[in-house]
Amino acid sequence: MTRMIRNWTSWTAVAAVLTLLPVAEAKEKTLYERLGGKKAITAVVDEFAGRVAADTRINRYFAAAAADPKRLASFKMKLVGQICQASGGPCNYTGKDMKTAHMGMGVTSADFNALVEDLVGALDKFKVGEKEKSDLLGALGPMKSDIVEK
Ligand code: HEM
Repeated sequence: MTRMIRNWTSWTAVAAVLTLLPVAEAKEKTLYERLGGKKAITAVVDEFAGRVAADTRINRYFAAAAADPKRLASFKMKLVGQICQASGGPCNYTGKDMKTAHMGMGVTSADFNALVEDLVGALDKFKVGEKEKSDLLGALGPMKSDIVEK
């Protein structure tokens, strides 16, 4: 009888562990994973850069990068790295901090909003979900005070 109870107890423990396992495995995905990883982020940044280049409200800021393919490629790579890192991906952003990178440009709040609109346009083109979109904008939003000078 004691043995039966002991057996029953250990089977109950095994059943409990098996029941809880999927719960432990269903760990929240990072925003990086939900965005679709580096390939998807790179596609969004490419589209975004095209939109910024065509956006007459702000494209004057990017004239130097637009005129130099190497500079443009490096800028896009840094952006991908930054979004990858900010969304919890396996990247180390190696560019300048946002204050240093935008110092002296005189970026206004309206410029910032125009750029965010271009980013949203790119995210929408790739049908990025509302939650992912707002999570990404939420991660980039706090950078505004380091970028906007006027
Ligand atoms: C959340 C918003 C923004 C993010 C995440 C961002 C990110 C970056 C990054 C990562 C760089 C590269 C830094 C480096 O060279 O090490 C950069 C450079 C630059 N950013 Fe921004 N930026 C933002 C907003 C803006 C806005 C609103 C403007 C102007 C309208 C702007 C204009 C520029 C320019 C002109 C460069 C230099 C590009 C070049 O010629 O190489 N950025 N930004």
